[in-house]
Amino acid sequence: MCGIVGYLGPEDPKDVIINGLKALEYRGYDSAGVAILDGDQFKRVRAQGKLTNLKEKLKTQVFSGHLGIGHTRWATHGAPSERNAHPHCVKGISIVHNGIIENYQELRDELPNAEFQSDTDSELVAHLISKEVDAGEDLYSAVLKILPQLTGAYSILAVSSDQPDEMVAFKNGPPLIVGQTPDSVIVASDVQAMVKYTKNVYYLEDDQVAHIKGHEFRLTDRTGRPLEKTLTVVDWSPEQAEKQGYPHFMLKEIFEQPRAVAAALEPHVNTETHSVNLNDVGFGKDTTAVLAGVERVFVVACGTSYYAGMVGEYYVERLAGIPVEVDIASEFRYRHPVIPKNSLVVFISQSGETADTLAALRQVKSEGVTTLSICNVKRSSIDREADGHLYMNAGIEIGVASTKAFVASLTLMNLLALAIAKSKGQLGLGLEKELVQDLLGAPSQMETVLAYDKFFNEAAETLKGYRGFLYMGRGANYPVAMEGALKLKELAYMHAEGYAAGEMKHGPLALIDETMAIIMLAPSDDLYEKTVSNLEEAKARGGVIISIGTGDNDKLKGLSAHYLALPPAHWTINPLLEVIPLQLLAYHVADAMGRDVDQPRNLAKSVTVE
Ligand code: G6P
Repeated sequence: MCGIVGYLGPEDPKDVIINGLKALEYRGYDSAGVAILDGDQFKRVRAQGKLTNLKEKLKTQVFSGHLGIGHTRWATHGAPSERNAHPHCVKGISIVHNGIIENYQELRDELPNAEFQSDTDSELVAHLISKEVDAGEDLYSAVLKILPQLTGAYSILAVSSDQPDEMVAFKNGPPLIVGQTPDSVIVASDVQAMVKYTKNVYYLEDDQVAHIKGHEFRLTDRTGRPLEKTLTVVDWSPEQAEKQGYPHFMLKEIFEQPRAVAAALEPHVNTETHSVNLNDVGFGKDTTAVLAGVERVFVVACGTSYYAGMVGEYYVERLAGIPVEVDIASEFRYRHPVIPKNSLVVFISQSGETADTLAALRQVKSEGVTTLSICNVKRSSIDREADGHLYMNAGIEIGVASTKAFVASLTLMNLLALAIAKSKGQLGLGLEKELVQDLLGAPSQMETVLAYDKFFNEAAETLKGYRGFLYMGRGANYPVAMEGALKLKELAYMHAEGYAAGEMKHGPLALIDETMAIIMLAPSDDLYEKTVSNLEEAKARGGVIISIGTGDNDKLKGLSAHYLALPPAHWTINPLLEVIPLQLLAYHVADAMGRDVDQPRNLAKSVTVE
């Protein structure tokens, strides 16, 4: 996945494109580049590595034109070098590309006289368009002409120095959005790249072409047939995309979590009657009937969203009493799952664009099974394509390692479990009230847990010296342990594993010695005693233990090098509380190790390739 941005208008394209790329850097940071009109030619400037390298190179560059395109890359084909950085230019044509052209080698072989300057699949697109232009086509029709030749999921943005008032964008897979102001047009992979300039945006659907001319654009399909445009007015503000005094986006987002839970709850609970209502999820008037008919739930997601789904499994099975299966999307789509007709398949995705999750959604839809999306990015592909929709409402998440989307997803899975139970007449009024009150109280409890920021800030120097980390928990705490381990891997590049505490004796105990840190999630719940026994086993093997439990707990204090107390909470709320110290641990250890917390190496926030 890569980030695309293009600008045509009266402002300096260099500024608009660089601002846009900054907001898109989460999509990849192997290289960045721009091609901006200067006189009657595009001037291209590219740099390997992060955007700052490109910015440095651009400092002294002045461009006289009003049109330009830019790109930030996450390498798929070809090493992360300047030579492979976009834009790719052939004669007067410049293009940027996101996705994969699967048959690029074949097509390259058909152009024996073309001189390729890179090892990418993308450059081919510039050669093909240029060939059509040489044969007399204009930019728009040249793009239409080459589309039938290309296979794969890809989006492209093309410009031509012969048509300095035009851009042509095509989407078939990765997202592309056209933003419009009274005197300019911006094209980008994400609204974040344009909210500074406009809130009026048009999301391209697959197989749509945007032909931009001056400050206007028309929408067609790939054969040139005109299509209606649908305006969306976005509600994210530019301020949300700033660090607001925090050293990193991730720390800001960790601190925003109480608000994220409150925002996820807000549309669905009545704060006076303490009742749940999911009527606006998009199943229309039939929501209660749809949920009442659900006999089995599947949850499909990737990364942090997958662990949120696993916590959701405990919620739905225990509260609604129906079976749940949770799958990693890249496995689900190839394992030929048997999905009974009366199932509900839930897709969790912060970005709403994760390629495997989207492909799994399409597969399930083709079988006629009801689908529900849980997304943060409204109007993203997964949100648009699912039958029903729940929104995280967490605000823009920029840190590549997901935090607030996780707690928002847990909140929505909890509400979904309650709504299913209620639709089946299985949730007594008293219990509904109690559980909704617990949820409403969670944000202020989370605020108190954020105070562990100071502890981990101080402990990070010592913690970074451990050989590895084992995170353990049971029940709904087990997926949280895995999420904690994922955070440390992503951010600190340290070995960490999340394990079901009861399974330690079947292998991982052999790893434990005094160089191994054990993070034990042991809140007061029905598995607490068993968890403590597992903790004793780890302690006996010399592991250094940080335990996280409920309230003042002498037993856990006695067993641990450090004990962190959470406020007393229902088992459904504990995951929201205990994930916070795990995120803070990963953040501070990584920061103390000098890691790039917001943009860890080799990763990207939105994975739009398989
Ligand atoms: C990437 C990100 C993770 C995220 C995962 C799933 O790997 O780095 O933070 O959890 O994708 O993303 P999604 O947008 O589908 O939740």
